[in-house]
Amino acid sequence: MKTIKIAPSILAANIAKLGEEVKKIEDAGAEFVHIDVMDGHFVPNLAFSPDTVKALRTDSKLVFDVHLMIEEPKKYIQKFVEAGADIITVHQEVTENLSEMADFIHSFGVKAGISVKPGTPVETLEGNIDKFDLVLIMTVEPGFGGQSYIDAMNEKISKAREMIDKTGKEIELEIDGGVTPLNIAVPAACGISVAVAGSSVFKAEDAKKAIIEMRTNAK
Ligand code: DX5
Ligand code: ZN
Repeated sequence: MKTIKIAPSILAANIAKLGEEVKKIEDAGAEFVHIDVMDGHFVPNLAFSPDTVKALRTDSKLVFDVHLMIEEPKKYIQKFVEAGADIITVHQEVTENLSEMADFIHSFGVKAGISVKPGTPVETLEGNIDKFDLVLIMTVEPGFGGQSYIDAMNEKISKAREMIDKTGKEIELEIDGGVTPLNIAVPAACGISVAVAGSSVFKAEDAKKAIIEMRTNAK
């Protein structure tokens, strides 16, 4: 089994020291940094702008994994790419034409991700999953860090894995929300390749230990 990539979400970081926090997780061995973008419409919260991404980019070699929880992603994608995003993930629930959205994101030279909220079946991606580089299964209701993992999502992860394997393409399968070293084993067995982890990494006493523990328990 391949090693699972860890994508700490800066929503749980000490915002007053954001640069140092990103350095901390880079030193701790994370592969991605997960940046949540919220517009107060798609989700009832507000978070990070392209300027934040740009400021963090100057000092980091991590893969910048930008998760757009916003109603009009098309308006802002270019700004996030210019700021330094490597992967742009949008939500299925606000995307009418999935294939066109994947092309649009790719036209800026970055990877394209598609995300589904807990209530959205992964079957809604049928026929278009191969257009994306990453599928993000939300394992909490989007909007806030620190929530509990929804166990019922495990079945959906397995289904997504099946759909991805059928394409024969290298598509990342990412989960986001409530992931900890104590519950990562089941989604890992269901076939995830990337785990977003906010609280369980940034709020841990030792981020490196938390990341190692997560990888170990995922095997
Ligand atoms: C929730 C965000 C997540 C969140 C995860 O809407 O998309 O990325 O920060 O945080 P934890 O790991 O604390 O649940
Ligand atoms: Zn996220």
